[in-house]
Amino acid sequence: MTLYDARQRPLRDLRVSVTDRCNFRCTYCMPRAVFGPDYAFLERDELLHYEEIARLARIFVAEGVEKIRLTGGEPLVRRDLHRLVAMLSATPGLKDLTLTTNGSLLRRQAKGLAAAGLKRITVSLDSLDDAVFKRMNDARVPAAQVLDGIAAAQEAGLAPIKVNAVVERGVNDGTMVDLARHFKGTGVILRFIEFMDVGTTNGWELDRVVPLREMVESIDRELPIEPAEANYRGEVAKRWRYRDGSGEIGFISSISQPFCGDCTRARLSPEGELFTCLFGARGHDFRALLRSGASDEEVTAFLRSVWRVRDDRYSELRSAATSGLERVEMSHIGG
Ligand code: GTP
Ligand code: 5AD
Ligand code: SF4
Ligand code: SF4
Repeated sequence: MTLYDARQRPLRDLRVSVTDRCNFRCTYCMPRAVFGPDYAFLERDELLHYEEIARLARIFVAEGVEKIRLTGGEPLVRRDLHRLVAMLSATPGLKDLTLTTNGSLLRRQAKGLAAAGLKRITVSLDSLDDAVFKRMNDARVPAAQVLDGIAAAQEAGLAPIKVNAVVERGVNDGTMVDLARHFKGTGVILRFIEFMDVGTTNGWELDRVVPLREMVESIDRELPIEPAEANYRGEVAKRWRYRDGSGEIGFISSISQPFCGDCTRARLSPEGELFTCLFGARGHDFRALLRSGASDEEVTAFLRSVWRVRDDRYSELRSAATSGLERVEMSHIGG
């Protein structure tokens, strides 16, 4: 069964946020001034239970979802996450199960997650320069701790490992080449992400975005790269490879080259609301439905009704509306 939205985009990926909490306070995501000691995070009983998530996963996979990614907040701060991984990895028909983490707690959990059925993992790491990295994570975590988490994931057999680095002009753009050099030839796939205007609290400004073309040029100058083909339709990262054959590197360009046309992603919030766009204003309440005693058929019908009318393409609308510069870059690449 494949579900199509109003723009003929199939539902293929489900991103499940298992908590709104995080042990980091990245300035571009959870600025401490907003997410301070008085911030009201969700209470435990507001979260979807693992059994509820696993049930939704079964239903979503039956409707065409092939990949599930666990996210947060920081997913590894949720208690016994390996239990959820074990339940999800037993979902009939699910092809890919992965997780995005800040890596700081991976050393202790990598083995258990792999044993529970996790296949691969994506770790966020914005810089190897501790002054820069600590300024960005605002939690005094050194890069070495994240690197050790990555090593633990490698030892546990999680592969491939991807590393995500958000690039902010004037903050960590000067350390991009170092990061690339560190992972080049290791099999770890590094991806640089354009700083996005997600949420409303991170002080986003277009001036602080380093567009894909500029990122590619700055890497290419030091470590020559050439474009590579996408792995699958709708892949978020643009793939490039090192010309010396030592592996690949990616760039995620939601600002300068939005990829809404192929967006097959649905997002489930920790309290069970389904969002059909990263920039959506409101979600659809699956928790209430589950807890009202709905049957699988009723949950499926709700999912179908939500997906079939989906028309989101925020990043495309934003860039068309905000700046001529980005349109130039798009036509440069050919749309
Ligand atoms: P693979 O399964 O390994 O291809 O991963 P992925 O690139 O789809 O997932 P990942 O979570 O690593 O995505 C990397 C980053 O891209 C995210 O952290 C976001 O910053 C951004 N991103 C992912 N999906 C979307 C999306 O649908 N819209 C926008 N605007 N950005 C996205
Ligand atoms: N812009 C781009 N990427 C972001 N992430 C979080 N906030 C932003 C933002 N404002 C990324 C993190 C991580 C993933 C969960 O999302 O770096 O890789
Ligand atoms: Fe946000 Fe991830 Fe940073 Fe936590 S580690 S603040 S979830 S970007
Ligand atoms: Fe998908 Fe919304 Fe991101 Fe566009 S902005 S790629 S529709 S999540």
